[in-house]
Amino acid sequence: MLDKIQILFTEEQIRSRVDELAHQVSSDYKNHELVLVAVLRGSIFFTTDLARRIALPLAMDFLSISSYGEGSEGVVRITKDLEQNIAGKDVLLVEDIVDTGFTLKYLLRTLLSRNPNSLEACSLLDRKARRIIDIDLKYVGFEIPDRFVVGYGLDYKQQFRNLPYIGVIQPDKLG
Ligand code: IMP
Ligand code: MG
Repeated sequence: MLDKIQILFTEEQIRSRVDELAHQVSSDYKNHELVLVAVLRGSIFFTTDLARRIALPLAMDFLSISSYGEGSEGVVRITKDLEQNIAGKDVLLVEDIVDTGFTLKYLLRTLLSRNPNSLEACSLLDRKARRIIDIDLKYVGFEIPDRFVVGYGLDYKQQFRNLPYIGVIQPDKLG
């Protein structure tokens, strides 16, 4: 099955890009009360790798969502909320991929209503070609073409999250 996956970004490419992002975050958030918020489950590896390379004190929290309909319906629900009160904190929301933008828009709106001192978004992947909602992404790992990708946290039917690389998969070829 793995032979149906075409590598888009190797483990090494991911590591060096995550290093660059962590560097940027470390300088942007100096003297701030940074809270990294990971959106489960897709951004789990990205967030933990990023966090370990940020040279600042920080807190981590997690939320989990479920989406109904395929992307463009944009109906998102929080199934596991943050444990921490983010009022007055500098929150960086970490996503795996922004596609139409509905998911991130919903999350940003929800978190903003809790009065953080600042709120920004960081996504490992950005598939701009499919964007419907205009989103302000402060940090992006890689822009990708309009293809379905898996690995490094991203899944197809809950599989492939554990691949150390990111690859393109053609679901119709998996049977
Ligand atoms: P959006 O709301 O359309 O921006 O969709 C974003 C969400 O859809 C992401 O957080 C992912 O969970 C999922 N998603 C979109 N494209 C892919 C992909 O290529 N592989 C795996 N998950 C994806
Ligand atoms: Mg996701």
